[in-house]
Amino acid sequence: MSYDKVYGSASEDVGQFWLDQCGLIDWVKAPQRALDDTNAPSYRWFPDGELNSCYNALDRHVAAGRGAQAALIYDSPITGTKRTISYQEALDECALIAGGLSRLGVGKGDRVLIYMPMVPQAVLTMLACARLGAIHSVVFGGFSGQELATRIDDCQPKVLVGATCGIEPVRVVDYTAMIDEAYQLAEHLPEHLVILPREQQPQGPATSHLVWDQFLDGATPAACVPVAATDPLYILYTSGTTGKPKGVVRDNGGHAVAMAWSMKAVYDIDPGDVFWAASDIGWVVGHSYIVYAPLISGATSVLYEGKPVGTPDAGAFWRVIGEHKVKALFTAPTAIRAIKQLDSAGAFAKDYDLSGLQALFLAGERCDPPTAEWAGELLGVPVIDNWWQTETGWAIASNFKGLGLFDAPIGSVGKPSPGWQMQVLDDDGNPIPTGELGNIVAKLPMPPSCFPTLWGNHERWLDSYMSAFPGYYQTGDAGKIDAQGMLHIMGRTDDVINVAGHRLSTGGLEEVVAGVPAVAECAVVGVADQLKGQLPVALVTLKADCTDQADSVGADAIAAVRTKIGPVAAFKRVIVVGRLPKTRSGKILRATMRAIADDRPYKMPATIDDPAILDEIKTALGKG
Ligand code: COA
Ligand code: AMP
Repeated sequence: MSYDKVYGSASEDVGQFWLDQCGLIDWVKAPQRALDDTNAPSYRWFPDGELNSCYNALDRHVAAGRGAQAALIYDSPITGTKRTISYQEALDECALIAGGLSRLGVGKGDRVLIYMPMVPQAVLTMLACARLGAIHSVVFGGFSGQELATRIDDCQPKVLVGATCGIEPVRVVDYTAMIDEAYQLAEHLPEHLVILPREQQPQGPATSHLVWDQFLDGATPAACVPVAATDPLYILYTSGTTGKPKGVVRDNGGHAVAMAWSMKAVYDIDPGDVFWAASDIGWVVGHSYIVYAPLISGATSVLYEGKPVGTPDAGAFWRVIGEHKVKALFTAPTAIRAIKQLDSAGAFAKDYDLSGLQALFLAGERCDPPTAEWAGELLGVPVIDNWWQTETGWAIASNFKGLGLFDAPIGSVGKPSPGWQMQVLDDDGNPIPTGELGNIVAKLPMPPSCFPTLWGNHERWLDSYMSAFPGYYQTGDAGKIDAQGMLHIMGRTDDVINVAGHRLSTGGLEEVVAGVPAVAECAVVGVADQLKGQLPVALVTLKADCTDQADSVGADAIAAVRTKIGPVAAFKRVIVVGRLPKTRSGKILRATMRAIADDRPYKMPATIDDPAILDEIKTALGKG
């Protein structure tokens, strides 16, 4: 069925459309009702359904005779390791991990925090939580001990499952030190700590813990626990406008259905195909398309621990595609830019047989047209930009390879997925004419998989997303819809920036920089960057008695961000300025500076007290 027909049928009766897709997964109790709208704007999908997400990802494929097929291909050039794990092996290992967790008292609704690098045990621990009806929360390895502590206190896990280290090209990332630090800082300490030792760092944290083998020794494999479709599957923290991260909650039923539907319709992946999402399990793309969607669909998922370049060269991605016969690659544009920067002629691609690759999917940040064009020419496959957010768990808009591609101009993110009703509104909530820029919003209800709340903070969910434009979900992105109905995303309307496909809060960075003793005032903005899309830059003024610290304040601020947020912030630039632009009432004009820093500003707002300051800021940011 074509995209138009599918989208049309969802528009006619969205509930029936998604109820019809429920057959893509296995239920303990199949839902009879599509949507519970009694608590709008918090809509709940499949309120009377019961299932188990792990059963759908593993058990059912083994039961259907796919036990010998590869579920995961772990390929880790950074450690020189490869391991193929069949569905049967994945099921056995996962059930044992679930048994180990159950023995520690983990049951339905309990939280388990996972702080692990890209290793199979991390994926299987996520699934083991799902098996028990427990709620996992994965924390990305590039975050600091302090960020880890914040997440521990917010979701109060019963168990923390960690590893001793992650591995970056030039250093071993000492997870144990960060876990120890988090245990010093957190108030709600988990009852148990389980640690997977790695060869690169055998030593575990000082905090009392169970070593992986002890944790599993004698454990009884656990069975799947049925949960309500509306029960939470995971919490994934993402950046908002303040330093306090938002715990995006994903439910079980709507998520599983959306994963199964999108794997075929968006990515054109069938059971047995090899799919590679070159992301990290710490991000939403990793949750959805390294773990849940490919496995729920009975495909083979590549779990890659390494970088796009330098492991060992600019052909790292092409090797994986050739060696594992990858049918579709999904990554962030920044990864392609990194490869292009090192090998613009694409010479390394010629060393590998890429004939099995049928499409390249890009998401996570705005894709610049030259990058998409370069990749398309090199690989000879469609390059498909799809737009989504941690909040949604899958593409809000895309081209749909499994439904037959439509013509989408480079620079657009395609058309809305079924059930998404997109509009562009001005700040007062009035519709904006076709082709003009504004706030992109989605008419409620949103399709299955979208977050029904923020963990422990429904008020913040209402305030941040549902209150500015009543009846609509505020995506936080600015953009336009063209005459063909294609969406174009320009960037964020709030204080969130996107650095190498990683979402960061400038407000959070400002909180840290403002804590540096010599800093009087600061503003952090995302400056356009050729490789990473945006890079955070702090503009700071010094306290009157600290003007002699202009040379050292930068290093102090950078060290503070690294310690308090983590290296993932890629925070490396601090500029001391005489003044920051303010409104007549004394409010720092962050949006104005943001617009100067960004090459494609949404708008240039507000009247300022002294326009000459803007020139100073433009010069400081190299935008003069
Ligand atoms: N654990 C610990 N540290 C990490 C980390 C992890 N998992 N991932 C990144 N870091 C560190 C890096 O080592 C770097 O530290 P440094 O300042 O000491 O050099 C810092 O965080 C910034 O990382 P990053 O911005 O990723 O820069 P990079 O130079 O290491 O790599 C790219 C650049 C483009 C190769 C890389 O960002 C990339 O592959 N991006 C793809 C993004 C992606 O998959 N996004 C997911 C959404 S789809
Ligand atoms: P995250 O929640 O980390 O996935 O980040 C979501 C944000 O990334 C969105 O709100 C957008 O600002 C940006 N983003 C994701 N995909 C795209 C895309 N294809 N094009 C433009 N921006 C994107």
